[in-house]
Amino acid sequence: MKWFVLMVIALGLGLATTSSTYNHYRLPTSLRPLKYHLRVLTHLENAENFRFGGNVKIEIQILENTNNITLHSKELTIDETKTTLRQMSGEDSKDNCVFSTEVNTANDFYILHSCKELLAGHVYELSLQFSSILLDRLDGYYRSSYVDPVANETRWISITHFEPASARLAFPCFDEPGYKAPFSITLEYHKKFTGVSNMPVKETKPHESLTDYVCTEFQESLPISTYLVAYSVNDFSHKPSTLPNGTLFRTWARPNAIDQCDYAAEFGPKVLKYYEELFGIKFPLPKIDQIAVPDFNIGAMENWGLVTYRETALLYSAEFSSLKDKQELANVVAHELAHQWFGNLVTMKWWTDLWLKEGVATYLATLCVENIHPEWRSMELESLVNLLSIFRKDSLESSHPISRPVGKVSQISESFDEISYDKGSSVLRMMLLFLGEEAFRSGLKSYLNKYAYKNAEQDNLWESLTQAAHKTGSLPKEYDIKTIMDSWTLQTGYPVINVTRNYTTRTAKLSQERYLLNTDLSRTHKGCWWVPLSYTSQAEKDFNNTAPKEWMECTETGESVPKTIQDLPGPDQWVIFNNQLSAPYKVNYDAQNWKLLIETLNSEEYQSIHVVNRAQLIDDVLYFAWTGEQDYEIALQVISYLQRERELLPWKSVFENLKLVNRIVRQTPSFGFFKSFLKKIITPVYEHLNGINDTFSSIPQQDQVLLKTMVVNWACQYQVGDCVPQALAYYRNWRSEANPDEKNPVPINVRSTVYCTSIKHGSDSDWEFLWTRYKRSNVAAEKRTILTALGCSREVWVLRRYLELIFDGKEGIRKGDSKWAFQAVAKTEVGFVLAKKYFMDNIESISAYYNQLLKSIPRLLEPLQKQIYTRKDYEEFKTFLADSQEFLKGSAEAIQQTLEIILTNVQWQERNYDQFTRAIKHLL
Ligand SMILES: *[C@@H]1O[C@H](CO)[C@@H](O)[C@H](O)[C@H]1NC(C)=O
Ligand SMILES: *[C@@H]1O[C@H](CO)[C@@H](O)[C@H](O)[C@H]1NC(C)=O
Ligand SMILES: *[C@@H]1O[C@H](CO)[C@@H](O)[C@H](O)[C@H]1NC(C)=O
Ligand SMILES: *[C@@H]1O[C@H](CO)[C@@H](O)[C@H](O)[C@H]1NC(C)=O
Ligand SMILES: *[C@@H]1O[C@H](CO)[C@@H](O)[C@H](O)[C@H]1NC(C)=O
Ligand SMILES: *[C@@H]1O[C@H](CO)[C@@H](O)[C@H](O)[C@H]1NC(C)=O
Ligand SMILES: *[C@@H]1O[C@H](CO)[C@@H](O)[C@H](O)[C@H]1NC(C)=O
Ligand SMILES: [Zn+2]
Repeated sequence: MKWFVLMVIALGLGLATTSSTYNHYRLPTSLRPLKYHLRVLTHLENAENFRFGGNVKIEIQILENTNNITLHSKELTIDETKTTLRQMSGEDSKDNCVFSTEVNTANDFYILHSCKELLAGHVYELSLQFSSILLDRLDGYYRSSYVDPVANETRWISITHFEPASARLAFPCFDEPGYKAPFSITLEYHKKFTGVSNMPVKETKPHESLTDYVCTEFQESLPISTYLVAYSVNDFSHKPSTLPNGTLFRTWARPNAIDQCDYAAEFGPKVLKYYEELFGIKFPLPKIDQIAVPDFNIGAMENWGLVTYRETALLYSAEFSSLKDKQELANVVAHELAHQWFGNLVTMKWWTDLWLKEGVATYLATLCVENIHPEWRSMELESLVNLLSIFRKDSLESSHPISRPVGKVSQISESFDEISYDKGSSVLRMMLLFLGEEAFRSGLKSYLNKYAYKNAEQDNLWESLTQAAHKTGSLPKEYDIKTIMDSWTLQTGYPVINVTRNYTTRTAKLSQERYLLNTDLSRTHKGCWWVPLSYTSQAEKDFNNTAPKEWMECTETGESVPKTIQDLPGPDQWVIFNNQLSAPYKVNYDAQNWKLLIETLNSEEYQSIHVVNRAQLIDDVLYFAWTGEQDYEIALQVISYLQRERELLPWKSVFENLKLVNRIVRQTPSFGFFKSFLKKIITPVYEHLNGINDTFSSIPQQDQVLLKTMVVNWACQYQVGDCVPQALAYYRNWRSEANPDEKNPVPINVRSTVYCTSIKHGSDSDWEFLWTRYKRSNVAAEKRTILTALGCSREVWVLRRYLELIFDGKEGIRKGDSKWAFQAVAKTEVGFVLAKKYFMDNIESISAYYNQLLKSIPRLLEPLQKQIYTRKDYEEFKTFLADSQEFLKGSAEAIQQTLEIILTNVQWQERNYDQFTRAIKHLL
């Protein structure tokens, strides 16, 4: 009630400036929906005529007298002869009517003008009849299919995907996250199907007019934002896996894949239980379903009570899925279920704070998976991967703050990126590490309790955490979370800290500036961050202590305050800042400190530096070499120690960096030296892991399996040891199997490498063999592996034909999977040139194929931007992008970033190429 009063006051101020034609991208705030009754009839039987239609009755509360009802509706046909509007409350309850309507296509508005003024304080019911075609668009309410192998027939299903702004494609509604309302949903469909939605079925009965149709009414939901509404009509099978006293839990898939649901069915309820205990809040709905959708654009979607997944993110096959596939699956399930609280129970007020749910879910997923599968040791890896990702993205000037104003739908869509997810997650991890677990948890809990069934913004979270932190004493009283965290969430980028030691006075001077990859730009006055400083020395080696010993502070006007650290060790001992990379910043040291670090790394003692900090030193020094702040001599001395390294994280870090150098250098005459250098550092670990030989069953630690998978992949690319011949031998064995679809002798965890190597070095018939396996495979993870390997060919005509297959939508490559195939082609030396040309020549049809689907064009740009490195090609691509604007709508940010990345490649080539070549030769 208090909230209601505040709302009216805020409005009174706002209305004065409203112009006569409403053209703001946000809905007017003069009314709000109280409840939806949604009825949807779906026709899936006739392949010539897929369609849906229905009726939505919305109870609307009027907050401010008005003659208009503005809501969202997109590409729906509304039968206006059926529209009704009536007043529900008040004594003088009289019928009202709709006098005229208009549409505002720029904002997807459907505006109804009422016959009589709608009066503040009253509730009206608006009833609208709508219909549309059930397209295969992967967005809104759409259709998907699979082939029933026994009958050899295509089966159709329907499914929703609404986030962020596609509920309006399915029914007219107030499609903003702040407008939460209970939904009463009824689905009508042919009786051979099953209907599922957010809530359990209340009643199913025969359809009143259509023969062989049924009508299923679902229980009314709790207040829910439109983007979280979900329903599906399908003939899937399901597997129940409810825990004792737990919420009813079911996992759905097409019937011929139901045996691949075992893992997700077992894992899901454990995840739910973990969060219930972590937050002390029971999952609020009576049931939860997770469903694997054959055609899906993104990874998964957390719809409340009905979570949707692409098949690779939910289906697991012990015979076909690798450990990496399994861990990815676990991570996605843990992410989506975290949203049931962060996102669904408490929702962001507006998409500005998208990160509040995405960052939190990404971070909580790492904690959850570590808890359920400690044997994977996945938490450190996930944390590192998130950090590596943001160090890259957020070093671009064209990056953006975690929390930022967004307006149009295309801007909302572009917010689903590494900044919201990975940076969001990394700053939360930073907060946990400086606050301690107790304060962090208790802050999250009180936030959830306070804003349950409501909407919140980031300041609300800071408030809850500050209170918790002051209570536990884990944050000095004069500090508050908002000041610290605003510097991370409202500013773009992250800092690099210069540490200059004075070895006589045993002190160090610290200064910070924004780290930028583009060296044409000045770094001064680009922001200041509150940086928690943890550090340790060679004598102390206390990497476990991630609590800050000191803080780098900022003035009120956002200027950095330089810092001097006392009591450091003498000139024979290194210091390292940022224990376990507990905060997202880079550190550069003076020459002497780097020298000491290099000595330790290249000695038997290298393990005395924490494994995460070894990964940090590699990543930092390679960035500094890229931007010219360190010599490649120094950087390569650091990474030479990898000849000793046997742990996953440092290898992950070096490969992520060398991948980029590789994509430029392999197009230059110096590639031979680079190859020799890589062979030299990879060979020892390759031998140590017994190469590509199948020793997986004797590897005790799961993260070593991942290491082996990764090392083997690089080893075959660089023809290390026996990698290529052994890979080809595996493939030959597979080809000689009588039934290769059932029996595959290639070890699961090296299949991607074996397939790719064999396609790269193989014949046309090797390609055909694999393509046949693709078409016959019943396991999505295997299909993805094959799709990617098919791009490894070096035959121009094979690749050209493949590129055409990818976008023709007929030959079995689903639209939602097509990006993998394109990326696979574009990633290779020969394929890059062809893929780039194909993209440029066909941008119009590619754009039409995706029809502005979330993230589609940006995903195609990714591999291209990493390999363009000459100024001439930069100019050419820039002109192409400018000329193609009408086909690149909704990708403005991705285009900015693409151009900036290419520019940094050009800078690398111009500045570093010669020095890099000299340094590499020197080490051989
Ligand atoms: C209501 O509609 C009228 C007529 O189009 C327009 O002048 C006015 O700005 C609209 N107001 C709102 C809040 O939509
Ligand atoms: C399945 O049907 C398609 C045509 O609908 C046909 O081309 C194909 O050969 C059939 N496959 C099998 C295994 O019968
Ligand atoms: C289930 O709940 C009941 C009632 O709350 C309780 O008595 C029982 O011990 C619970 N069982 C389990 C396995 O937790
Ligand atoms: C940090 O060090 C780099 C390289 O020595 C130098 O260019 C830069 O100006 C320094 N920045 C600060 C803020 O001291
Ligand atoms: C170290 O500090 C001392 C005392 O302030 C000063 O005399 C000396 O020049 C400093 N050394 C360096 C390398 O800056
Ligand atoms: C640091 O923590 C790890 C894991 O908790 C533990 O195994 C190790 O002994 C600790 N090291 C030190 C120096 O306390
Ligand atoms: C792989 O196995 C073969 C046959 O046992 C052996 O000759 C070869 O040395 C092994 N390769 C590695 C890298 O261990
Ligand atoms: Zn998410």
